[in-house]
Amino acid sequence: MPADEILIAEADIQSRLSELAAEINEALPEGPVHVVMILKGAIIFGVDLARALMRNTTLGFLTASSYGEGTQSSGKVEIDARHLGDLEGRNVLLIDDILDTGHTFAKTIDILKSKRPASLRTCVLMDKPARRETEIQADHVGFTIDNHFVVGYGLDCDEAFRTLPDIRIYAPE
Ligand code: IMP
Ligand code: MG
Repeated sequence: MPADEILIAEADIQSRLSELAAEINEALPEGPVHVVMILKGAIIFGVDLARALMRNTTLGFLTASSYGEGTQSSGKVEIDARHLGDLEGRNVLLIDDILDTGHTFAKTIDILKSKRPASLRTCVLMDKPARRETEIQADHVGFTIDNHFVVGYGLDCDEAFRTLPDIRIYAPE
């Protein structure tokens, strides 16, 4: 298997998730929160985190494609915001799987801000700072990792491995 090496175990993801939920709850204003996740990579983390908040939560979705095939970025980001929901005057939490070059997050944040939310906080499961090409940072980061291409817990390589319960290093055979 090209994804045998576990980088972050399932139990470690789950315990960090509880810490993140507490951290985010502290930072968010009281009341309902609109959770926006970037498909498809954030879907598993995003839903787990949204549930761990134990709040009155609504969900919105964006689709972003920056990686073409395999592990190489295509360089351009395409965003579909049709299922974002209404953000105006609401407290919004944006969730993504991984912050890599930062282009996806930067473009997404611009779109969300243009919808005039009352507040906006951002969270990523993983951060790969070595790859950053923008000034972007997330308010809440689950794990800072070295420059590996990783799969599992929502993250894919050519659509495979998303449903693994842990995060693994992808090493082509
Ligand atoms: P960015 O625009 O370069 O920051 O890319 C962000 C998107 O690329 C993430 O939302 C992921 O979908 C994808 N991506 C970046 N690094 C990885 C990785 O190591 N494994 C799988 N997908 C990744
Ligand atoms: Mg992806």
